[in-house]
Amino acid sequence: MTLLQASYRRPHAGAGPTPTHPSSLRPIDASVVLRADTGEALTLDLGRWHDPATAEEQEVLAGVDGPVIDLGCGPGRLVVSLASHRVPALGIDSSASAVGLARKRGATVLQRDLFEPLPGEGRWATALLFDGNVGIGGDPSRLLARCRQLTGGRGQVVAEVGPPGTGWRCLTAWFERDELRGEPFKWAVVGADAIGALAGSAGLTVATLREMPSGRWFAHLEAAR
Ligand SMILES: C[S@@+](CC[C@H](N)C(=O)[O-])C[C@H]1O[C@@H](n2cnc3c(N)ncnc32)[C@H](O)[C@@H]1O
Repeated sequence: MTLLQASYRRPHAGAGPTPTHPSSLRPIDASVVLRADTGEALTLDLGRWHDPATAEEQEVLAGVDGPVIDLGCGPGRLVVSLASHRVPALGIDSSASAVGLARKRGATVLQRDLFEPLPGEGRWATALLFDGNVGIGGDPSRLLARCRQLTGGRGQVVAEVGPPGTGWRCLTAWFERDELRGEPFKWAVVGADAIGALAGSAGLTVATLREMPSGRWFAHLEAAR
């Protein structure tokens, strides 16, 4: 089960009447939260997914080399932004609805699990993990090792992380709206203080770690020498 494939159910009441998931909510319903099994509501800006890339995101993207593979691209806003600057970019998302929305926006995307074989393995100059996507699959070391494989040890990985003090942890999480609950999936939360060790376990090292004016943190990772 991936992040955007969750259909909602009422706990203890069988299938609910809302056959939807976050990527198909237009406008995004502010009451949708990503809930962890610890009970906490995880920070994830669902509203951003349908918007164009923010000025800050564009600033981060301006510093990356193409071709770019955007892992867990959602509705494709980063791919669209890169393409508008003539940077070759491919989005990968396992959710049919996210991929459908991305294609409607004109993004070049494939509906795939990022751990399955992908085109251009080893030849991507940059792999993106924005918006908490370093948490995909609940095993950041495995995900970062996959990024290293995709970039062939010569490219870079740009991963958005939480602020210092976040540490890292694996969770089971689900999307929740009122009393409706999506299918649980594995997720991880990774902070700026933890990305170095996780990157190291995947043969990567932190080249830069930067806080943007909004408070979002981005780590640029490259292959360890
Ligand atoms: C946080 S959302 C993405 C938001 C998007 N990166 C953005 O910034 O607008 C995470 C995305 O990862 C996708 N995803 C989760 N697991 C995946 C997997 N194993 N392979 C590919 N995509 C996956 C979900 O379907 C979802 O669209």
